[in-house]
Amino acid sequence: MISRRNLLKSLGLSAFALPSLTGLANPMTENESGALLSPDNPDFWKSVRNQFPLDKDTVFFNPGTVGAMPKVVVDKMTAHLNYTASSPADWAYKDDNKEEFISGYNNLMGIRTKVGKLINADPMDIAMTDNVTNGMSYIANGITLQPGDEILTTDQEHGGGQSSWKLKEKRFGAVFKMVEIGKPISSSSEVYDKILKAITPKTKVLMLSHMISGSGAILPVKEICTEAKKRGIFTVLDGAQTIGHIKVDVKDIGCDAYVGCFHKWIGAPCGTGFMFVQSEYLKNLWTSVSSYRWDDHADEGFRFTQRGTGNFPVLKGLDAALDFHFELEPDRVYARIKFLGERLRKGLEASPKVKFFCPSDESMCAGITVYNIEGWTGKKLQDAFWDSAKMRPRAQGDIFGVRHCTHIFNSEEEIDKAIALVSTWAK
Ligand SMILES: Cc1ncc(COP(=O)(O)O)c(C=O)c1O
Repeated sequence: MISRRNLLKSLGLSAFALPSLTGLANPMTENESGALLSPDNPDFWKSVRNQFPLDKDTVFFNPGTVGAMPKVVVDKMTAHLNYTASSPADWAYKDDNKEEFISGYNNLMGIRTKVGKLINADPMDIAMTDNVTNGMSYIANGITLQPGDEILTTDQEHGGGQSSWKLKEKRFGAVFKMVEIGKPISSSSEVYDKILKAITPKTKVLMLSHMISGSGAILPVKEICTEAKKRGIFTVLDGAQTIGHIKVDVKDIGCDAYVGCFHKWIGAPCGTGFMFVQSEYLKNLWTSVSSYRWDDHADEGFRFTQRGTGNFPVLKGLDAALDFHFELEPDRVYARIKFLGERLRKGLEASPKVKFFCPSDESMCAGITVYNIEGWTGKKLQDAFWDSAKMRPRAQGDIFGVRHCTHIFNSEEEIDKAIALVSTWAK
């Protein structure tokens, strides 16, 4: 656990500079700290940027693929890797209450508790996985569907979210149905209508990205899940792009299951993810990977978390990344990401030849902006950014230009420079 004092010290701030966790009721503290820590205070965010060992001469705009780790994460992982090399004799077998260095057999309750706090779920309903693809596969493989049962989703799902459901179709005769939702999506109400209209009495599963990877669109998942639940449909959300990026509250959304990863927006090492399934469904879900606990229902999350020897230094890194996120305070992180994303979109709007594929409704957007310049390909735009300024957004094929992510390690200057470059190319 990184102590609050240490994090503040490393950010060059005193304990007075941040509200105490319980002191927000004091308006003086709130005002002062509000000014210091507001999403548009470059000094505070410069200190945060210094926590990342990112190269100073390149600009990273692609956490939508794989994120950047703060130094503390790398340090914790490295320290633990060294420990596993030097001190394997220290390891006391069969001690579930102590988080030992071999994952796969431990219940990982410490980390599951932090993930529970992050998404507002009971840690007993959470299992640790390696990524979103694993989590979604555990759910799709573990659920029983009959031939003809329908799985409904959109036409813009990532392969890691949808493929386990396509497998379900091929292997068990379920029917995989996609709804065209448009790119850009024109409005929340339109996407809501399109999805609800596609529901039939045979729909048994609704699988949706909470945020679409190729456009950054935040779907109205709460409203859609509410309606689906009324019809007895199992709802599962792909949160690959949301965890550490926007607020996720599974109780408020009311979904039955949610899968996510930490190696994109939360700054954890690669190979870290989770699945949450409401206990009423989790207790009946078959395990796909089975070890001692495969049929032990005392701790349902552990039943899936126990999946053979894994990589514990990576989990140490994840633990540190979660602490880092909590110490910065999630809402502050989300506000900063959104602030920078909006600044980028507003700046690009001034160039008439820029075409957007993220929604024009700002309430459906956060830190992902997808756009192209008329007549350009994504590769051309990606290469132009790199060749001109060593900036790295990610190409999205010929039509859709680039996916340009903004995160807490980016600065206003970086965004403004990117806007200025596009304005010269898009004349
Ligand atoms: C929406 C979405 N789902 C699933 C995935 C796959 O995630 P993972 O590699 O963690 O399995 C991604 C990766 O980019 C994604 O954007």
